[in-house]
Amino acid sequence: MKIYVTRKIPQIGIDVLEKAGHEVEVSPLDRPLSREELKDAVAGADGILSQLVDQIDGEILDAAGKQLKIVANYAVGFDNINIKDAQVRNVLVTNTPDILTGSVADHAFGLILAVGRRIVESDRFSRAGKYQGWQPFLLLGQDVSEKTLGIIGLGKIGSTLARRASKGFGMKVVYYDRDSVNKDLDQEIGARAVSMEELLKTSDFISVHVPLTPETKHLISTPQFELMKKTAVLINTSRGPVVDEQALLEALQKQDIFGAGIDVWEHEPELTPGLAELENIVITPHTASATIETRDNMSRVAAENINAALKGQTPPNLVKS
Ligand code: DGY
Repeated sequence: MKIYVTRKIPQIGIDVLEKAGHEVEVSPLDRPLSREELKDAVAGADGILSQLVDQIDGEILDAAGKQLKIVANYAVGFDNINIKDAQVRNVLVTNTPDILTGSVADHAFGLILAVGRRIVESDRFSRAGKYQGWQPFLLLGQDVSEKTLGIIGLGKIGSTLARRASKGFGMKVVYYDRDSVNKDLDQEIGARAVSMEELLKTSDFISVHVPLTPETKHLISTPQFELMKKTAVLINTSRGPVVDEQALLEALQKQDIFGAGIDVWEHEPELTPGLAELENIVITPHTASATIETRDNMSRVAAENINAALKGQTPPNLVKS
């Protein structure tokens, strides 16, 4: 069967598809496809292996044709796909959960340390030749160990971060999750489920791990920044629009919070003007899952989902609306 891959991915996934006897076409362009290009490219495909930047809706699915059976997203997040449009057309949608949990949790913790200890700012300072010798007040940051980490959204990534923070750094963990209380985690590391308001008021570091939905858009905005401690650090490795970036800019400019670390931006690849000029933010370009091992695994898992669907099986990582 015919599989269209919307951008070059690690070869392992292509091999998995070809070994199953599929004809695989990979976009030759080293950039996301425009909507028109995507519509043309997917025509006749039985499976589409998509990127999180491809907006897949009814129009794209119809352009592919009635033979289309699966869209396998090369990401754990799937807010770029209109699941209802897929369901009414009997097209399965899959994602790549679990395999990127550790790398994203590591990145979130990297941002906690980078912002809390002003590591990137210190690097810029040193490279600029500004260091004149040891000083008592030079680039003072926030301790991380023993502090309170507030996790918003206690899914797999949130709970992995919680364990690392507690076991490795002795942090106290509080969390807010709309749907769940994790009794095992509470017992294992003494984590505590709290209200959103309590989390915002009491956490030293706040890390966001919710999917992007209409309900979570701008979950963190001016009223939430106003509740945070002046010394708080906000980390976002989930989806950019979960944090109102204009409100973040203002909170950082007014020093209403100590700092922020963002791997995801509200309007990727554009950054809200003014953010890049601030010292109290560390910005990475949606690379939290970008390790060689994880990207290989994402490629393999996306391909395995396609193979299962095209064999008429339920793919391992089917997502539902
Ligand atoms: C995902 O898989 O959703 C991540 O954002 C990719 O880095």
